[in-house]
Amino acid sequence: MRVALLPGDGIGPEVAAAASQVLRELPLDLELEEHPFGGAAIRVTGDPLPPETLAAARAADAVLLGAVGAPEFDGAPVRPEQGLIRLRGELDVYANLRPARADHVDLLVVRELVGGLYYGARGVRDDGTVFDTMEYRPDQIERIARRGLELATTRRGHVTSVDKANVLDTSRLWRATVERLAPDYPGVTVEHMLVDNCGLQLVIAPERFDVILTENTFGDILSDVAAGRTGGLGLAGSASLGDGRPGIFEPVHGSAPDIAGRGIANPAAMLRSAALMLAHGLGEPDLGARLETAVDGALATAPTPDLGGRATTTEFVEAVLRELRP
Ligand code: NAI
Ligand code: MG
Repeated sequence: MRVALLPGDGIGPEVAAAASQVLRELPLDLELEEHPFGGAAIRVTGDPLPPETLAAARAADAVLLGAVGAPEFDGAPVRPEQGLIRLRGELDVYANLRPARADHVDLLVVRELVGGLYYGARGVRDDGTVFDTMEYRPDQIERIARRGLELATTRRGHVTSVDKANVLDTSRLWRATVERLAPDYPGVTVEHMLVDNCGLQLVIAPERFDVILTENTFGDILSDVAAGRTGGLGLAGSASLGDGRPGIFEPVHGSAPDIAGRGIANPAAMLRSAALMLAHGLGEPDLGARLETAVDGALATAPTPDLGGRATTTEFVEAVLRELRP
């Protein structure tokens, strides 16, 4: 199996190295090939997603990605994040799965990833008005709604569909679509919640959620809130899936320029993304579960500074490798 590894910027290469070290220890015939991406690629080629990197990603069974973004590109015409948005669109990975677990919380944010505000019409009018547009085609909503409802059947069977139907037309289409499809999943209960209330509920009662199904921008924000309630960005992994391979697997966090180069980045989010890759991207759910358990073990014995501990990235990886050995 071939995995395209895109380390990216900041702590991206640090957590990517951690993932590659751990993946090589697993009993799995895996080819890991690194390719330039993000700011690192702009510096060399002027393009955050060079054609060679895109071709390698398309040809791979899965894409494992660190993070992109660097302060030097703030306000620049070509930015690292543009490469990420384009890669998601090119691979049509419309379903972004972001699990959040801690104590009594076990929820999964299912976020639409290739539509809405981040992909709609944008521009500047003559009077200087700048606009971004939230747009959704019915089939874009239908496929993500089905994915969320289906995933709920493998969990506790409850979907909270989140929108802003009291204000937005796209949200009214979203809600009507979820309502129409829900009867196809008889074991699943569906509730609708407005996004502002969902933000509040995630802070005060996150344990009430099973699957949160929502559009791109709402999901971007709510999944960070969920991450904040379950140990922080250093722990949150994600899977972005289309209808076939390759999916993209990446931590929720960014390039963390404030701690980059200090060897203290928490690689747990990246390793959990690698576990999601094994389970959802490469058809190896047992190996994924093994890695997931090993990461949980390392979090208990070797927490990094973001969790109040003192372990370095390297020490965390060593703890994971110890957990993995029989
Ligand atoms: P960020 O996620 O990089 O960092 C936020 C805070 O969390 C920082 O204090 C950072 O040190 C901490 N943090 C994040 N990951 C950590 C880890 N693994 N271990 C320990 N601490 C960790 O978000 P920020 O600072 O808003 O953005 C920095 C850059 O990353 C920007 O250029 C932004 O555009 C980009 N970004 C990229 C994303 C991606 O590649 N998917 C997602 C979010 C932001
Ligand atoms: Mg985000």
